[in-house]
Amino acid sequence: MGGDWDTSNENNAITVIRKAIDEGINFFDVAPVYGWGVSEKVLGKALKEGGLRDKVLIASKAGLIWNEKHETRNDLSRESLLQEIDDSLRRLQTDHIDIYQMHWPDHNVPLEETADALNILLKNGKIRYVGLSNYSQKDMETMMTMTHVDCQQGLYNMLERNASSYHGIPLEYRTEKEVFPNVRKYGQAYLPFSPLFQGLLAGKFLDGGKISAHDVRSANPKLSGRQFPFYRDVACRIRDFSAEIGHPMNEVALNWLRQKPEVTSIIAGASTLEQLEMNIRAFRWSISADEMKKLDEIIAPCENM
Ligand SMILES: NC(=O)c1ccc[n+]([C@@H]2O[C@H](COP(=O)([O-])OP(=O)(O)OC[C@H]3O[C@@H](n4cnc5c(N)ncnc54)[C@H](OP(=O)(O)O)[C@@H]3O)[C@@H](O)[C@H]2O)c1
Repeated sequence: MGGDWDTSNENNAITVIRKAIDEGINFFDVAPVYGWGVSEKVLGKALKEGGLRDKVLIASKAGLIWNEKHETRNDLSRESLLQEIDDSLRRLQTDHIDIYQMHWPDHNVPLEETADALNILLKNGKIRYVGLSNYSQKDMETMMTMTHVDCQQGLYNMLERNASSYHGIPLEYRTEKEVFPNVRKYGQAYLPFSPLFQGLLAGKFLDGGKISAHDVRSANPKLSGRQFPFYRDVACRIRDFSAEIGHPMNEVALNWLRQKPEVTSIIAGASTLEQLEMNIRAFRWSISADEMKKLDEIIAPCENM
């Protein structure tokens, strides 16, 4: 909400959030940088005005700081984290964040310093659990020696299972190969981001047409560049298979994630009530073992993508 390609208004966002909670959704993933504060503000307002804070878990993030021109930089220093948390709590209108995730690694700050700041926040009750997002497994394990690491978040969906980049940014982890074994070993929660491949796995972009230059997805080389035909072709095969088994593609993509024992919560973006309702329907049925096998054959070419 409020970030990247969302062009809707605050009222729409609040209506979608309230409806999600009515439907039993109790987990919201936001970040200060999404919409330059907007996603946290909108979630905070929806929860406060509805008296709903104690019905949900809030996962927010830290480490991406922006200036008045909306240029972003990494900062996971102690000083910055201690400031960021108070800004987030104010925007979210709450006294604690349930899961506080380091959004992207900051290689200019020693891991010890970030861990030290997180320990202060855990101790003073401003955060309940620590998450790391987009971290290498080596750095994650080093962090574990200095603070709690309860949760990991990373890029994961049917077509991006061991992706080496996100929007052209190199990733320091391979999800199925490196992150999942650790999630199992250490009993961590795992949150896959872009579960619908930014909409591709809900059927968006499949029928041609250019993505508007104002939409940040136009800068995703997997959605509009040379790599697109590969992903489009596999996505079309998933769409055909979904039709064969009588379910829309978005439901199949979310259901596939739900079958993965490592996946704790699916943070699917939904910008309208209609999308929310469509995505919730994914949880009213389960893919059979046979269907899962056929899907795995279709997506086999993506195993190392
Ligand atoms: N930790 C990180 O670095 C990181 C990075 C990226 C995302 N995230 C988190 O992950 C969340 C989800 O990822 P995401 O937003 O990148 O991608 P996503 O959930 O894969 O895709 C969301 C988009 O797909 C489209 N969509 C959703 N449901 C649909 C439906 N039923 N039918 C048709 N289209 C549908 C919508 O596009 P339209 O709005 O265009 O209709 C929606 O905005 C984010 O909100 C964020 O919290 C974290």
